[in-house]
Amino acid sequence: MIQKQLFDQTVGKLLMFFISLLFLLSCKTEMKNKVESPVPSIIRTNFGTTKNNEAVYQYTLKNRKGMQISILNYGGIITSWTAKNRKNEFDDIVLGFDNFTDYENKNPYFGAIVGRYANRIEKGTFELNGTQYQLPVNDNTNHLHGGLKGFDKVIWEVNTLKKDSMVGMELSYTSPDGEEGYPGNLNVFVTYALNDDNELSVTYKATTDQSTIVNLTQHSYFNLSGDFNKEILDHEVVLNAASFLAVDATLIPTGEIKNVKGTPFDFTAPKKIGRDITIEDPQLKFGLGYDHCWVLTDQSSENKFVASAYDPESGRMLEVYSTEPGVQFYTGNFLDGSLASKKGGFYKHRTGFCLETQHFPNAPNEPAFPSTVLNPNEVYESQTTYKLSVIK
Ligand code: BGC
Repeated sequence: MIQKQLFDQTVGKLLMFFISLLFLLSCKTEMKNKVESPVPSIIRTNFGTTKNNEAVYQYTLKNRKGMQISILNYGGIITSWTAKNRKNEFDDIVLGFDNFTDYENKNPYFGAIVGRYANRIEKGTFELNGTQYQLPVNDNTNHLHGGLKGFDKVIWEVNTLKKDSMVGMELSYTSPDGEEGYPGNLNVFVTYALNDDNELSVTYKATTDQSTIVNLTQHSYFNLSGDFNKEILDHEVVLNAASFLAVDATLIPTGEIKNVKGTPFDFTAPKKIGRDITIEDPQLKFGLGYDHCWVLTDQSSENKFVASAYDPESGRMLEVYSTEPGVQFYTGNFLDGSLASKKGGFYKHRTGFCLETQHFPNAPNEPAFPSTVLNPNEVYESQTTYKLSVIK
């Protein structure tokens, strides 16, 4: 009898012990989940309507580290991108607007996918297989960023993607033959994939039914401080490039590939953007600052290191890797205080910078530059990865 009582008591205690253990374990998992999201997520919200009455949606990707990137089906525009600073606080680090109307009417390519041809083509004209093509001229005397209605201003089809450690979107768009003057029906696919290492990969693919030219890029303006009233001049930048393309007064490459050594264009070691930007230099004068294409030292089509930018105050570090041969480093020189910031105030001169990985500007008229021609039965493929981290 006594033995049975003792046995019952022991079983009871053991049961209580296991129940408490299970309870503690479940509390621990719940607490952990509160700090990091349980699974990568993607949510869609309405963002407005275009003048042609098309619905604009914003997709917000979130990874396990809590980083959030919002992207529109219009222009594939990244409207916001949050990253932690040294104090573990998230802030939005890309310039943009808080409403669709501004994106539709006055966007200087904030966050957009740019094509068919990112950057400039001299006088908007080029010859391909014996035919001379004329594209719209929308930047002084030149064609810029795909023309009047480039890929930054069209509605893309969206497929959402979700895997165990990645959340993303596949965007597709068919650019009809003759659109903005370009030959060939072009099928374009752009994939945004955010992983749990705070890396956003942008993968581009395109095919055509006639020979054409293609040069795609992503045009986010970063300000790693998260304070868009602050200039980006204190950011320390590295560009993995020993030379850059000299330009004329309209920012068209002259054809000269200039060594950066001894010039304000040397970013081979970390240098504050503001250190040399005001030096008397004809090249800096033409761009009102940096607005040039650097020729990457590694010209391979590996996804190699291209550039980094570091904001010493917040500790945020951005690294860029790409399969492209060049990077247009633009320091927001044409921002003039006329565009309203999503955080209040206005975007002033040099409050954002872009690292636009790409083929070289005006390549269709420069036979010595890597070719941007895409023929039927070929696939245009390109990839750029942006990685955010914190330096303690
Ligand atoms: C160009 C700049 C231009 C900016 C916005 C950059 O890619 O190089 O000259 O002002 O885009 O259009």
